[in-house]
Amino acid sequence: MSTSQLLSRTSELATNYLDGIAKRRVGSLADYETLVDKMGGPLPAVPNDPLKVIERLAADADPGLVATAGPRHFGFVIGGALPAALAADWLTGVWDQNAFSFVLSPAAIVVEEISRRWLIELFGLSSETSMGIVTGATMANFTCLAAARHALLLRLGWNVEEQGLFGAPAIPVITNDESHITVFASLQMLGLGRSRVTRVAADEQGRMRPDALAAILRDVSTPAIVCAQAGNVNTGAFDPLDAIAPLVHDAGGWLHVDGAFGAWAAAVPSLRHLTRGLHLADSLGVDGHKWLNVPYDCGFAFVRDSSAHRAAMTLEAPYYVPSPSEVRANHNWVPESSRRGRGFPVYAALQSLGRQGLIDLVERCVMLAQRMAKRLATNARVRILNDVVLNQILVRFEPIGGGDADAYTADVIRRVQEDGTCWLGGTTWHGMHVMRISVSNWSTTEADIDASADAILRCAAR
Ligand SMILES: Cc1ncc(COP(=O)(O)O)c(C=O)c1O
Repeated sequence: MSTSQLLSRTSELATNYLDGIAKRRVGSLADYETLVDKMGGPLPAVPNDPLKVIERLAADADPGLVATAGPRHFGFVIGGALPAALAADWLTGVWDQNAFSFVLSPAAIVVEEISRRWLIELFGLSSETSMGIVTGATMANFTCLAAARHALLLRLGWNVEEQGLFGAPAIPVITNDESHITVFASLQMLGLGRSRVTRVAADEQGRMRPDALAAILRDVSTPAIVCAQAGNVNTGAFDPLDAIAPLVHDAGGWLHVDGAFGAWAAAVPSLRHLTRGLHLADSLGVDGHKWLNVPYDCGFAFVRDSSAHRAAMTLEAPYYVPSPSEVRANHNWVPESSRRGRGFPVYAALQSLGRQGLIDLVERCVMLAQRMAKRLATNARVRILNDVVLNQILVRFEPIGGGDADAYTADVIRRVQEDGTCWLGGTTWHGMHVMRISVSNWSTTEADIDASADAILRCAAR
């Protein structure tokens, strides 16, 4: 069988999956042992026919797939894959470009540069802002915070890339008390520590309190890295960046914003007020695989001071062929050297949506989240805990006549997962067990929301 026949058959298998995705059970059907039994066995001693390998993979993996790309997966914060982005991702695999540098792939360099220009325009960032395409918001936060570490230590006369952190002046790090766990993971990887961080109190929606930040900044004598967020992972709430940024900058600090999904509100006129002050951030981490709906994996690290970004990330070796001076070298802006051409699906997503399509996508998800909250709230057992300003909903189930609401909520979540109409998860928020709902998929419709709300209420009624 030729490669072209193999790819045609693969396309058929992929189309079958996509055609059925809106109807299939959202959660996985298989447990770990079953999958290991089915897919395991000894390492093949001899080659296998590629067609058989692919047909078997498609059949055996199927029960272990979660329909995260479909319209009714509301767990975590999970986007789907826009058709053009998905198709571009296929081409990316076929082209097999190393997006490292111009000599390896001029096209991979150009799509990242064009995407940078379009994205900073959408987010309202300054035109000199540099951008690296990484695997997701975790590595975006890491990259941005590496640039922050470089810039603040350089001002203190310390070159952290050359000298390391042993003996370096201590730089204070301040976060929102509810910063995403990956911000702490990034700090951990950068040698800045998780526990030495000062956490700023948040309000009832999880927004950093500027008065509490101001009090902390009064007590620090060295410029600090301050990590704020645009889009709390539970409530979707935004830190008041317009109040925070001047406080940070007056104290000589660096403002990093984790905007994994919330930053997209800056591109939407009706939601832009939520991100007021975003343009003042020194760095911004955003996900592509969440709300932009490009396939996994994709995230963006934006840094206003491109020299700090480059100094923190760049690597050079005598055998690297230098790019022409005016040309971007992707490897200067990310932790990796060789990597996938992640810019192609980003470029295709932005081309296919256009500005208006992106606005519609984000606004539609917010509208659908509000519809879900409204439908659930009609039930006397349901309490919506957050202001649904974005795409996130926190739901608590309270037994009528009193009882253990934590246990009841956990039970409803378990039943919804077993039911399979939709998938969502739970968390502990402000001492309460709650259901989390996130609406981030381009293909979700009102009918999906209504069917899912009905299923959730059915599970709560049992
Ligand atoms: C606010 C926030 N920051 C960071 C992340 C981490 O993103 P990723 O898993 O794409 O690296 C998430 C993921 O949900 C998030 O919501």
